[in-house]
Amino acid sequence: MKVLIVGSGGREHAIAWAAAKSPKVDKIYCAPGNAGIGQIAQCVPIGAMEFDKLTAFAKEEAIDFTIIGMDDPLVGGIVDAFEAEGLRVFGPRKNAAIIEGSKAFSKDLMKKYQIPTAAYETFTSAEEAMEYLKTAKMPIVLKADGLALGKGVLICQNREEAMDGVKTLMMDKQFGTAGDTIVVEEFMTGREVSVLAFCDGKTVKCMTSAQDHKRALDGDKGLNTGGMGTFSPSPFYTEEVKEFCETYIYQPTIDAMAAEGRPFTGILFTGLMLTEEGPKVLEYNARFGDPEAQVVLPRMKNDMIEVMEACVDGRLHEIELEFEENAAVCVVLASDGYPVSYEKGKVITGLETFSDKEGYYVFHAGTKMTEEGMVTNGGRVLGVTAKGADLKEARKNAYAATEWIHFDNKYMRHDIGKAIDEA
Ligand code: AMP
Ligand code: GLY
Repeated sequence: MKVLIVGSGGREHAIAWAAAKSPKVDKIYCAPGNAGIGQIAQCVPIGAMEFDKLTAFAKEEAIDFTIIGMDDPLVGGIVDAFEAEGLRVFGPRKNAAIIEGSKAFSKDLMKKYQIPTAAYETFTSAEEAMEYLKTAKMPIVLKADGLALGKGVLICQNREEAMDGVKTLMMDKQFGTAGDTIVVEEFMTGREVSVLAFCDGKTVKCMTSAQDHKRALDGDKGLNTGGMGTFSPSPFYTEEVKEFCETYIYQPTIDAMAAEGRPFTGILFTGLMLTEEGPKVLEYNARFGDPEAQVVLPRMKNDMIEVMEACVDGRLHEIELEFEENAAVCVVLASDGYPVSYEKGKVITGLETFSDKEGYYVFHAGTKMTEEGMVTNGGRVLGVTAKGADLKEARKNAYAATEWIHFDNKYMRHDIGKAIDEA
């Protein structure tokens, strides 16, 4: 079959890599893709938000199955656009992708269906938000309602920061209309875990757990980024925690969406905080995580395409997900200065070292092929993933592999997966 993947990051490279392993797949296209994806798929210069062009391309090329990697097109209704043209597509429809697209929606859903999450209030007026914050308990968390490239969450230590935060989100509109509504949420402490699950509208099957490192600097300092590295599985996601989440979070979420007339098909990504009171939902996403996909997919034994088709056909209950009994660590190689400002166009060498190494992968995020060879073309440049018998070995292998790659301005965190030492 012919598969089209929509997106252009390390996540889409990992999805393309998993699709290429499927015996069902003859040819892969990716729109718009990147230079690394171009080595295993044919990249098509159509943007992820150009729904008309994408559906026209899918019809022209007789694409059998399309996978949407990114949040923006999902929230914008790309799945509805493909389905309207009779095309088979993997991902939630617009009315279900809202679980990621609106934090106010997802919080109200959790409240209505008693899914554990932090206490919150929603505001559409800056004055009312500030009035509330005069007496609210600090620290506190402010969240832009809409999509903000993972940057619309402000952790405020005191009242002054909270007032400034309201100004940033609602008055200065740093994230545009995403901040017209804000969620003000109780601050939680604990370990964070990401759990990605395949869903077919009724059934939910979880993948192995992962943990992301969102801050730019070692020791979880600095600005929030798209993600600087991940490890899988999380040693903090014990059998007991898993059972709790299966009973009180994942299935209840899918049932709630179905009850609301918004059946969820695709990847439900639950960001959890393991608090002293038990696991609570931090957020939902309607797609694979980036870089969570880069550690979870390499450990998956199933044919990813087969599982995705079962989701679209509503027969996920027939599938048993299987993961390798090992671990994986992904270290993101970024351009120095990310996420603020950074130079591009630096020549990348050493990529070929990965080609003959079992259990080592390099997923491209911001790269471009030029006459000079492969060059950097973004903040997050590459994701270096390595497997190992356990997390410690995987971490050692991943950091060894980061040394195979060279480019000017190469920046990475040196403590990805360090938390496992405390497990
Ligand atoms: P989100 O995009 O909602 O996952 O938020 C981004 C990051 O902000 C999370 O990964 C957490 O590290 C942090 N965060 C979000 N909500 C809270 C909360 N209620 N308490 C503490 N930290 C939070
Ligand atoms: N790594 C977090 C995300 O993809 O949202």
